[in-house]
Amino acid sequence: MNEPLSSDVLVIGSGAAGLALALHLAPHVRVAVVSKGPLAEGNTYYAQGGVSAVLDPGDSVEQHVADTLAAGAGLCEPTVVRHVVEGGRKAIEWLIAQGVEFTREQRADGSVVLHLTREGGHSRRRVVHAADATGRSIEEALVDRARKSANITVYEHHLALDLVTAAKLGRTPNRCLGAYVFDRETRRVKAFAAPVTVLATGGAGKVYLYTSNPDVATGDGIAMAWRAGCRVGNMEFIQFHPTCLYHPKAKSFLVTEAVRGEGGRLLLPDGTPFMHRFDPRAELAPRDIVARAIDHEMKRLGIECVFLDISHRPADFVREHFPNVYARCLDYGIDITREPIPVVPAAHYTCGGVLTDLRGATDLQGLYAIGETAFTGLHGANRMASNSLLECLVYARSAATDILEHLPRTEAPGVIPPWDESRVTDSDEEVVVAHNWEELRRFMWDYVGIVRSTKRLERAKHRVDLLLGEIDEYYGHFRVTNDLIELRNLALVADLIIRSALSRRESRGLHYTLDYPTPDETRPPVNTVLCPSGFRDCRGTLPVGRLAPDA
Ligand code: FAD
Ligand code: SIN
Repeated sequence: MNEPLSSDVLVIGSGAAGLALALHLAPHVRVAVVSKGPLAEGNTYYAQGGVSAVLDPGDSVEQHVADTLAAGAGLCEPTVVRHVVEGGRKAIEWLIAQGVEFTREQRADGSVVLHLTREGGHSRRRVVHAADATGRSIEEALVDRARKSANITVYEHHLALDLVTAAKLGRTPNRCLGAYVFDRETRRVKAFAAPVTVLATGGAGKVYLYTSNPDVATGDGIAMAWRAGCRVGNMEFIQFHPTCLYHPKAKSFLVTEAVRGEGGRLLLPDGTPFMHRFDPRAELAPRDIVARAIDHEMKRLGIECVFLDISHRPADFVREHFPNVYARCLDYGIDITREPIPVVPAAHYTCGGVLTDLRGATDLQGLYAIGETAFTGLHGANRMASNSLLECLVYARSAATDILEHLPRTEAPGVIPPWDESRVTDSDEEVVVAHNWEELRRFMWDYVGIVRSTKRLERAKHRVDLLLGEIDEYYGHFRVTNDLIELRNLALVADLIIRSALSRRESRGLHYTLDYPTPDETRPPVNTVLCPSGFRDCRGTLPVGRLAPDA
């Protein structure tokens, strides 16, 4: 019998959230980090714009809080927003100490300071960045540190498939004991035991056909937490980034919002600007407004894309500020210093997720969730640009502090039985998985996208119910594979998105439905909280001082 692999803390995911947490913990305890791909792969690596933080003398915490609340359309939790915003300076200083080299500028008086760029929703310049490849700089620095840390053991190409809970093993009281993890190389499932497990598995962009996210973003953490009995919230708020490169060969390439922050204009194919018709802030309106405006114009005119033009700025400025976008576009024959960039919206960020409190703790004892997989209350109905990397870093610190405080009093997980494969065989029809994967992502795009309606959502619900049934049956009979595990999670997350969207009978932030085109002003805004079956008293047990359950 294989012994479970053990550590003090099991961290699932190696993006900004997971690695920052592991690095905070490593001086004190043994940490296992499992990551389903190469360590650096994840949304963090592809982040372009930057990390928001109040650093400019003319800026203030109050102003950053106010901008975040405004973007969140009534659903941000003010305590959480303040907690995150106040952590901005420390987060940037910590990143610099880890070796991240942010872009700097020389002031007229000769001093050299961090260059701050601007993005939609921010009333000030407050986005710290490393040119237009901020995520790569952050991720590479953290990966380097993690690999050098004696207390961090890294398991790459290991896909966590389910949490192990005391309840599933018939023990009381219920708590998380670790996870079953699929080794992509040996195709075997291993047990990982730990007194504390942290989900840092990122978002779920791959639920949609078109997304800015890499392939690993399949919502696994949200699905695992739900199956383990945790509540999830606000899953209807999927952020569509307005400007992904439109080119047949460009898979998921984002054109950073900072291009608009530095003066980029959105144009129709005939060169006419249009954003001013939708919002007085024009190109710098929050993302939901910009994405909907583009969607509206594309549908109205029957066009395949719109254009983003920065060619009026000096060519040297463009190349210096956007070297990554410049080089990638040039690969596709587009010189952004001379011509506009064809762009379309694509699924980008999962605002909702696993409910957590200010420490990152979930409903299940011994389980934390941080980063994009969590629903902290920061983003409300619409995330403001560059607030998510900040959230990852601030919550990594808060969770680490809490874990270190409680770990000495936390019981060892005890014996975890090996994964049971006695009742399954090898799959006879892999095509079912590939077909369902494609079908799911397409109907989510068509029916649960930027503009929704009750009829479209009901269609999607009908289809996802069929898929869930089929996948369940398949899962029960056949040995797990990478694609089956991810499909099972994607279908579950799709179901949570659809159910949340159906329950919101208003338009607010990122959720826009033709049947209820305005916000419901008859009652205070409420979060959508879904409770897994068996959850006791969904209404009565909300984390401290936040979140009202859906009526
Ligand atoms: P990720 O960085 O996505 O990491 C998730 C990790 O979990 C990965 O290592 C993955 O392999 C692993 N994983 C997932 N499932 C499993 C599993 N089952 N088992 C084991 N491992 C698993 N935000 C900003 O604030 N500023 C920006 O400029 C910005 N730009 C962006 C640009 C792009 C193109 C994208 C896609 C996002 C951008 N965002 C930006 C959003 C931001 O990058 C993410 O929200 C943030 O990086 C999420 O970090 P994370 O650590 O939570 O998840
Ligand atoms: C971008 O650079 O446009 C992405 C920023 C973000 O998603 O926060």
